[in-house]
Amino acid sequence: MKRFLPLILIFGGLLALLGVKTIKETRQAKLPTVAILQPLSHPALDEIHRGIIAGLASAGYHNKQNIKIDFQNAQNDQSNLRLMSNRFVTEKAKVTIGIATPAAQSLANATKKIPVILGAVTDPASANLVHNNQRPGANITGVSDRAPIQKQLALMQTIMPQLKTVGVLYSSSDNSATSQMRLFKKIAKKAGLTVVEASLSSVNDLEQVSQTLAPKVDAIYVPTDNTIASAMGTLVRTTDKTKTPVFPSAETMVKDGGLATVGLSQYDLGVETGKMAAQVLSGKAKPATTPIHYLRKGHLVLNLKKAKALHITIPKDTIKTAQQKGTVIK
Ligand code: TRP
Repeated sequence: MKRFLPLILIFGGLLALLGVKTIKETRQAKLPTVAILQPLSHPALDEIHRGIIAGLASAGYHNKQNIKIDFQNAQNDQSNLRLMSNRFVTEKAKVTIGIATPAAQSLANATKKIPVILGAVTDPASANLVHNNQRPGANITGVSDRAPIQKQLALMQTIMPQLKTVGVLYSSSDNSATSQMRLFKKIAKKAGLTVVEASLSSVNDLEQVSQTLAPKVDAIYVPTDNTIASAMGTLVRTTDKTKTPVFPSAETMVKDGGLATVGLSQYDLGVETGKMAAQVLSGKAKPATTPIHYLRKGHLVLNLKKAKALHITIPKDTIKTAQQKGTVIK
């Protein structure tokens, strides 16, 4: 008997470990699932994802403690989006979060019951995701990343007082980009500018379309367009040749080679989305009666390295404001 004691102890120990592990696993399996779907990676969407996790945590929801977070990235593949959304429904997620319009639309197609929280969808009503942005009416609500376009245009005019012709570059299939393009066009025309539109049908067009556009315009405005945000390098490599500045709508795109913007914090958009998901998870809010939430505060982001390369002098006051209240990239 004595001879077997060590064996018995080891065996018993293993069994105990296994037991503890299964108990833990069952407990985790029972945690409510928060399913997060991201259509592709680019710096803005990655920031939003980080913010969502922080927003959930600030409301007391932590992965593997009281919720199970199932995060999926579709890597820019439509069939992945569909498969992943359907899986979230099969696994009975308590709440789903769709980062950007393509993920949100895919979730909306997969379920009419499980709450869908929109993470930075520019115009939910025009993307047919909600009945009305003030009164969503069904299982979908969330946060919009609608940017302060008026302020963005004013910034362009401050930096380039001679600005006359502006190009707008966008993907024709991106609802978020087209809705901003229309708004920008309206505001720019009112300000007396000539607007030249240039659209892409896929990322493969980007180089050629921007090459044709750049020589015709003084500057290029780019909305929050998922395709362009994931290929800023390609865009600025082309526009740098004609020294044409690019004014994007999102701060992350300035870091990726744009010149300047007044943009929303992508991280904060995520935080607000996470908090809203928490409200729905705890039963304090219902998507049908929760209006789409907008972030009011944009902040100034200047890329001084780019300004230097393009031989553009940014007014001292603007630089000062960015240093005090915004972000300066050197
Ligand atoms: N608004 C975009 C959409 O609805 C998603 C998005 C959020 C985005 N932030 C961005 C796209 C920044 C490009 C850059 O799909």
